[in-house]
Amino acid sequence: MIYITRRERFNAAHRLFRAEYSDDENLKIFGKCSNPNWHGHNYELFITVKGEINPETGFLINLKTLSKIIREEIIEKIDHKNINIEVDFMKNRMASTENLTISIWKQLEKEISGLGVTLHCVKIYESENNFVEYFG
Ligand code: NI
Repeated sequence: MIYITRRERFNAAHRLFRAEYSDDENLKIFGKCSNPNWHGHNYELFITVKGEINPETGFLINLKTLSKIIREEIIEKIDHKNINIEVDFMKNRMASTENLTISIWKQLEKEISGLGVTLHCVKIYESENNFVEYFG
């Protein structure tokens, strides 16, 4: 079994808040990410897949194909968008990085298994110091 990871980047706006809470309560719970006028992050997305090496090519997977799937299923839908209101696979979910990793997993799992490999991990850096990993 061998693992390979493709990185893609996107930037997007979001706000973490609950409508029933006051702005002060939201600030207390969600910090700066509750800013009522939105804000953005430069996200880094790491998609790791696993499988067996093709003895003819020496490759696990064609990374161009993997990149194309990530771009079509994720990046084109989220880059320069507002996660709370414009991204279909995040509809009705709190726009946290935790939820985003799970939604991206669900969005990619089937497409990636069609390539003959298995999705192993979705990792998202929201900032240099904070990242979330999901293993399904
Ligand atoms: Ni934020």
